[in-house]
Amino acid sequence: MHDRGHWKNRQIFIMAAVGSAIGLGNLWRFPYVAAQNGGGAFLVPYFVALVSAGIPLMIIEYGLGIRSQASANIALGAIRPFFRYFGWMAILGAFVINVYYCAVMGWTWVYLFDAGSLPEWAKDIASSKHHFMVDVLNVSGSPFELGGIQWPILAGLVATWVIIWAIVKGGLDRVGKVLLYTVPLPVILVLILVVRGLTLKGAATGINYYLTPDWSQLTNPQVWLAAYGQIFFSLSVGFGTMIAYASFMPKKTEIPNSAAITSFANCAFSFLAGFAVFSVLGYFAVASNMPVSEVTGSGPGLAFVVYPAALATLPFWVKGFGFLFFLTLLLLGIDSAFSLLETVSAAISDKFGLSRTVSTSIITGISLLLGLPFTSKAGLLWLDIVDHFILTYLITLVGIVECIIVGYFLGVKKFAQEVNENAEIHLGTIFCIMIWIVTPGVLMYSFILSVFKEFQKPYEGYPVPALLFMGIGSLVIVFVLAVVLGSRYTKNDREWKAIESGILKKEKEKQV
Ligand code: PHE
Repeated sequence: MHDRGHWKNRQIFIMAAVGSAIGLGNLWRFPYVAAQNGGGAFLVPYFVALVSAGIPLMIIEYGLGIRSQASANIALGAIRPFFRYFGWMAILGAFVINVYYCAVMGWTWVYLFDAGSLPEWAKDIASSKHHFMVDVLNVSGSPFELGGIQWPILAGLVATWVIIWAIVKGGLDRVGKVLLYTVPLPVILVLILVVRGLTLKGAATGINYYLTPDWSQLTNPQVWLAAYGQIFFSLSVGFGTMIAYASFMPKKTEIPNSAAITSFANCAFSFLAGFAVFSVLGYFAVASNMPVSEVTGSGPGLAFVVYPAALATLPFWVKGFGFLFFLTLLLLGIDSAFSLLETVSAAISDKFGLSRTVSTSIITGISLLLGLPFTSKAGLLWLDIVDHFILTYLITLVGIVECIIVGYFLGVKKFAQEVNENAEIHLGTIFCIMIWIVTPGVLMYSFILSVFKEFQKPYEGYPVPALLFMGIGSLVIVFVLAVVLGSRYTKNDREWKAIESGILKKEKEKQV
């Protein structure tokens, strides 16, 4: 059997997990999802989602990876063979996300090269928005109007894939070295932006909007759905990524505290980034005499519009800070993107007995091709639709299934006992209740609600055929591929070996 590799020590493992969690999700996705869902109204469900689903699932994923020493399909399939299909769904979710995640990295590259003229195109929110919508993305009117590839974005997409391919192909040691730089530097840069934002006139207006909870919004199910989706995306749980990363640690690894550190580090960083974005929104709101919620349309462009406008207000070295900022965004995104690639590549190499290089190269090639529509003029619209469907349905489903598998099939008490042998924080009754009822309960509730919402009103007013083709279409592809991958037997197939040995063990136990 080929060597799957392992992390050097627990610090590197935690850093890798934090690196995967902290990414574009914190600086790009969190602010626009928060703004879309009422600013301050969003924070309460966000923290509830962190505690009721984020941390428990992170513990489960670490535990599953460590006990099985394998990818999600095997980790779940070893408990009951049928569950391997759900493992594949998680992994394929990672695959799909990475296709558009790298396209956003492509935008970032374009911005990096535009930093030299930042003072002109970002002098106020309106020009910055124009730069995003027209100069960089050239967004078309409808998802079906592809309108040709935007070559600079495609170049950025290719650059991103080449980099993450080279890193993942190089194995875990190379990944570990890269992380030493990509994790700490962004924190410093974001701090600079927060300080700048907070010292602008009008910042307080924005911060009030960000921090004042609007309790009436708590009865709005949409806000809750968005919060759970954001927690999954941001913590990298529900994609098999944390299972894969944990599988590179020895069986005696500490789990609950590592999961708590990862989760809090990640969410603290998002919270911090919120200060930068909302203080700047406050500044422009006051300057232009508008309510904060109307300064920019919210949506996936928010970060790309607001941060540059903030940078343009710096008293000196604007271009330099601009360049550093986009470099930061790239560094943040790179370790998340390679964790996504690693998730898929590890599973494929386990399944087909391929070397790391071969499986990484195949996945990279396919993903790059699938990424092409996301570099077209309709790319932003495609991204918005695919992201919505994959996060709301696929990943929530995986979360529910993981709780049921561990809660009822493996037995959460048995799981907790295993974990507690090496734990710094012990898992007790609260954890068991979470996994039995609370987490799957809230997730099921939000799943059902989202189905209703979907039928009431097309998501964000997109044409229904587009939602069917891109949204439901990507879900169908994931389900079909999951069944195909889980059903096929290949030579050197670790998945089947693990499942068979699990079944044999159970039969032996029965005979005795
Ligand atoms: N958590 C990453 C981010 O916030 C994205 C990601 C999702 C990475 C899922 C791995 C798995 O940017």
